Order: sequence, then structure tokens, then C-alpha cells
Amino acid sequence: MTNRTPDAPRIDGDRLLRRIEALATIGPIDGGGSCRLALTDEDRAGRDLVVAWMHDLDLDVRVDGIGNVVGVRPGRIDGPPVMTGSHIDTVRTGGRYDGNLGVLAGLEVIETLEQQDIQTENPFAVAFFTDEEGSRFPPDMLGSLVYVGGMAVEEALDIVGIDGAVVGKELDRIGYQGPFPCPGPAPRAFVELHIEQGPVLEAAGTTIGAVTGVQGISWTELVITGQSNHAGTTPMDLRHDPGYVAAAIAYHVRQMAVRMGGRQVATVGRLELHPNLVNVVAASASMTVDLRNTDEQLLREAEAELARTVTDLAAAEGVKVVDRTLARFEPVEFDTRVIDMVAGAAADLGHTVQRMPSGAGHDAQMMARVCPTGMVFVPSRDGISHNPAEHTDPEHLVAGANVLMRTLLALDASDLAGSGSGVTA
Ligand code: GLV
Ligand code: MN
Ligand code: MN
Repeated sequence: MTNRTPDAPRIDGDRLLRRIEALATIGPIDGGGSCRLALTDEDRAGRDLVVAWMHDLDLDVRVDGIGNVVGVRPGRIDGPPVMTGSHIDTVRTGGRYDGNLGVLAGLEVIETLEQQDIQTENPFAVAFFTDEEGSRFPPDMLGSLVYVGGMAVEEALDIVGIDGAVVGKELDRIGYQGPFPCPGPAPRAFVELHIEQGPVLEAAGTTIGAVTGVQGISWTELVITGQSNHAGTTPMDLRHDPGYVAAAIAYHVRQMAVRMGGRQVATVGRLELHPNLVNVVAASASMTVDLRNTDEQLLREAEAELARTVTDLAAAEGVKVVDRTLARFEPVEFDTRVIDMVAGAAADLGHTVQRMPSGAGHDAQMMARVCPTGMVFVPSRDGISHNPAEHTDPEHLVAGANVLMRTLLALDASDLAGSGSGVTA
């Protein structure tokens, strides 16, 4: 084997694109996307394919107690690896790039090193983490949260999904409850390549985002119960209508986010009425509110306003509301040295680059708790994601993978301490 040279090798773009296509055919949905909700049969099939590719590359494949899969290529020394990766589970209406790009680009980096006979100083690892999306089993980033010790594996295994399934039973059923311990060993550094999932890079005509951090996330589930009754005979002033209260909450959080401005966003993404019939005042409503902000104080203010709104509306309508926190993560700032390396790698490869925060949640925000961490973004067409229409131009996918490889090689050669560096803002 030869030493790495300053002229970093380039990944095989066609091979990367072929793997993205192959993974997208598992759990296909109309419009060209995929549905591989966490721990379903489709997720298992996607996992099996990626694990087979890891074995093809002779990686040491390790599956831990929450189903995270890490493939390791040895380095010259035996220590914590330089790690990359992301997730291969999707939302129900997933595109073909969210998460998948980061995992398959990681494989592509390792295959390139292998083919070009490049030995790295440290081991290189590529991971896919369980249930990043959190849409079946909240919270999001569950696998990486457990990996870094943010939640005990026993607690995670007991989580009940939106369909009544239980994480531990589903993991066992699909054969992905592995022997490796949680929390997992801290890598030397972690870098995740991901599509932006927003409009910023495309609008600016920039190819690469050097991600500075991830905004805070707050998910609340509200279950509202009232008095089911006849839609024609019940006078308006005698109603206890969960459907009305749910709609009023949705309206209010939207107004609040617009009024607060800045980076505040608010989404009611799930809303179910029971019995959901045209001529029946609903008996109950179940809904979720997703609030995000890069500023922790402002996020807390938004949460407090939501709580006041729910209390006031419930009292006025005479309904009962039970709330449950599904996810709560503070904003995270990535390691400035890794951000600089991403920006430097992009510039070295001749790409335009800008620094930017992430609007979406990512496994990297969990890994930032235990090691120097950063992310690489590539543009999303029309800023669309969590939608089968999600698209990133092939040249941007390839550019992102090459920036990822150059950054990982720079980290391999650097003397960054392997300790946690991510800070909450
Ligand atoms: C996870 O993908 C999220 O940001 O919701
Ligand atoms: Mn993702
Ligand atoms: Mn996603």
C-alpha cells in the first residue's frame, strides 16, 4: 500500500449513482421515491443490501443493540476510526437521497481508498443509524442518540410506534438487534454528507454547504378529547369539539412562527380525528406540533406560547388535552475546525461553498456530543425533501462525495483530539 498523497483521489461517480438507484428500488413509491419506515420489512431489505455491499468491501461489520450498523476498514494504527455515515430509513413519502446519499457516499469513499490502494493512518468507518427519521418511532435520530449515550438502549427498545409496534420486537423480527454495546465507542471524528433539503444553496448558486450546526427541535403530541355528538343538532355554544381545537392550534402556531420571524418554523404534520365522519362532532383529535429554531431561548418562548394557547383553547371549548414530548434537542454547533476543513476541501476541489446552519435534524448532531463533527450539504432542487420529488443533480452528488472524501482524509492526517467537541448553543 502507498501513502495518501496531497492530490486526493476522486470517487467513481457512476458507481455512487448506481448504488443510489439500487437502494431506491427497495420500498418504491409513486413519483420515484421510497418508503422504508424504520424497522419495517422494507427497512430490513435496504439494510441487507447495504450490509452486503459492506461485506463486498471486506469491512468489519458491527451491529449494536439498537440496530446501528458500522462497517470498519482498518488503518495503519488500531484506534478510533474517522467515521462517516447517515441513515437509510425514510419517511413514508421519502425521496431517494435523504440519508441514503451519506451512507452510500461513505461506502464509495472506502471503495475508492481500497481500489487505489490507499492506506489511512486511522481506521475508516461508515455507519447507518437506526430510525433517524423518527416518523414511526419518535424521537428522530434515535439510533445515533443511543449510540452516544443520550438514551439508554433499554428505554429505546421499549418505544411504541405510531402503529403500536415496539422498537425491540421489530428489531428482533428483522434480525438487526446486534451484539455490539450501546453506547458505542467514540470515533476520532465524524462527518456526514447530506442533501440540504432546503432552498438556500440552489438559490445562491452554491455547490457545497459547510454546515455550521443544527437548529433545535421540539416535537409535541397533543391528544384532545371532547364530546362526540350530532353535527346537525348540537348548538354551537354547547359543543366540546376536539376538531375545532386542533384546527385552532394549527392556525395559531402558524401565525406565531410568522410573527416571530427569523428561523422560527412550526408544523402540524399529523392530525387525526376520530371517528372522522362528515356528520359527527369528533370525539378526539390527535396531532403533532414540530417547532424548530437555531436559538434555544426563542425555541423555549415558542414552546411556552404553544402551551398557553393549548390551555386557553381547551378551557374555552371545554375539552381535555394530554400532551407528550416526542423529541427535544437543543441547537448544536459543529466543531469550527471541521467546518473549516469542509470549506477548505470544497475550495481545494474548485467548488463554490458557503457556511450555513441545517434546518433538518441529522445523526451528526448526536455524534457532535462525543467527537469533532461536521457536515457537507449539496443542493436540493426547489428545496424539496421528504417528498418523492426530492432531487439533487448528479454532479452535485458526486461533488459532495469528493468533498466528503477530502475532508475525511484531512481529518485522518490531522491531530484533532478524539473528545467530544459539539456544543449546544
Ligand atoms: C429528520 O429528518 C427531521 O429533521 O425531521
Ligand atoms: Mn436525513
Ligand atoms: Mn429526513
